[in-house]
Amino acid sequence: MNSADIERLLHAIVDTDLGKTLGQLGAVHSVEIAGDRVRVFLEAIGPLHWIARRLDHDCKAAILANYPSANVDVLVRERTTDVKRSPALAGVKNLIAVSSGKGGVGKSTMAANLAAALAQRGASVGLLDADIYGPSQPTMYGLTDQSMRAEKNAEGKVIGYPNEAYGVKVASIGFVMQRDQAAILRGPMLAGYFTMLVEQIVWGDLDFLIFDLPPGTGDVQLTLTQRIPLTGAVVITTPQEIALADVRRSIQMFEKVNVKVLGVIENMSYFIPPDMPERKYHIFGEGGGQSVAEEYKVPFLGEVPIDVRVREGADAGFPFVLDPESGSMGDAFRSVAERIVQQVRIANANTLSSPLQIDL
Ligand SMILES: Nc1ncnc2c1ncn2[C@@H]1O[C@H](COP(=O)(O)OP(=O)(O)OP(=O)(O)O)[C@@H](O)[C@H]1O
Ligand SMILES: [Mg+2]
Repeated sequence: MNSADIERLLHAIVDTDLGKTLGQLGAVHSVEIAGDRVRVFLEAIGPLHWIARRLDHDCKAAILANYPSANVDVLVRERTTDVKRSPALAGVKNLIAVSSGKGGVGKSTMAANLAAALAQRGASVGLLDADIYGPSQPTMYGLTDQSMRAEKNAEGKVIGYPNEAYGVKVASIGFVMQRDQAAILRGPMLAGYFTMLVEQIVWGDLDFLIFDLPPGTGDVQLTLTQRIPLTGAVVITTPQEIALADVRRSIQMFEKVNVKVLGVIENMSYFIPPDMPERKYHIFGEGGGQSVAEEYKVPFLGEVPIDVRVREGADAGFPFVLDPESGSMGDAFRSVAERIVQQVRIANANTLSSPLQIDL
């Protein structure tokens, strides 16, 4: 057993998210051997917690298949990207906007459940309710009685702290004012609150910061997409044609401002009556999300059905995906979350100083 042999084995392992081998990715940093003991040092495209266990398993399996008596340790470090961020977001690794052209298609519900699903998988997650007209996350996270803790920092600037529920840090204009007040704010005041939300919240270190955007393709969306170094945006739609026109507008807006569209999610795809599980009703039509994704050559991230428990959870302040009984409905959210992380990893691979140019 020598390190060249071991490296050859490691180089052949495939990072399935990226569709490349560790050799192609330049992920094998070094291998140290002392007797039976093998120490493998890897550099992987983040988020690290997502991939580290899989790499550990695959590397051990590859080595032990050839050298059964080896005693293997795998140490994985995250490859750094060169993205520049404002000081408030310095510790935030991946920023994802959840958007839609049309209102009421389930952005906030999706943002709430995706954030919870990512946190449940061990990621550190923040959720920024960027809907300053009609904030939803205080309700969806059961935080309506909370206000925002704020203080002046050393430079005399006001900084605010997120609230936390279910392991997710949440910031919302709803913590600063009542819901009905937000709706009547106009112009410069709105812009001021918005700046505070995106630039003066102390997030600390996060794997993901999810932005729940207000509907549409107006000023707020444009400001955010231009001011924040988003990793990418996901676009939510419902299946029917009338929603798809708005999805097209959303995708075009992101393309115009050079924000990567990580994919399209179709919400409210179908309904399975709990008392007739063999029936499936396509209430809003079928296949619209998939077809608009194909039209714009962006990934389709999955279908999420209609389930009354999701709405009840949203109203009661509990992200339904966390319910141990969430079953196939929870799996729909979890599977969308997995596909988003895969697209985030591809986006990160392509923003390295020497981009790996991984195609979608
Ligand atoms: N998959 C689903 N199953 C059942 N109810 C859902 C589902 N997705 C969303 N809803 C419900 O639909 C309503 C609208 O959802 P939500 O508020 O998330 O939409 P939105 O796109 O954020 O709306 P807005 O454009 O006003 O911000 C809510 O009552 C929510 O509970
Ligand atoms: Mg909303």
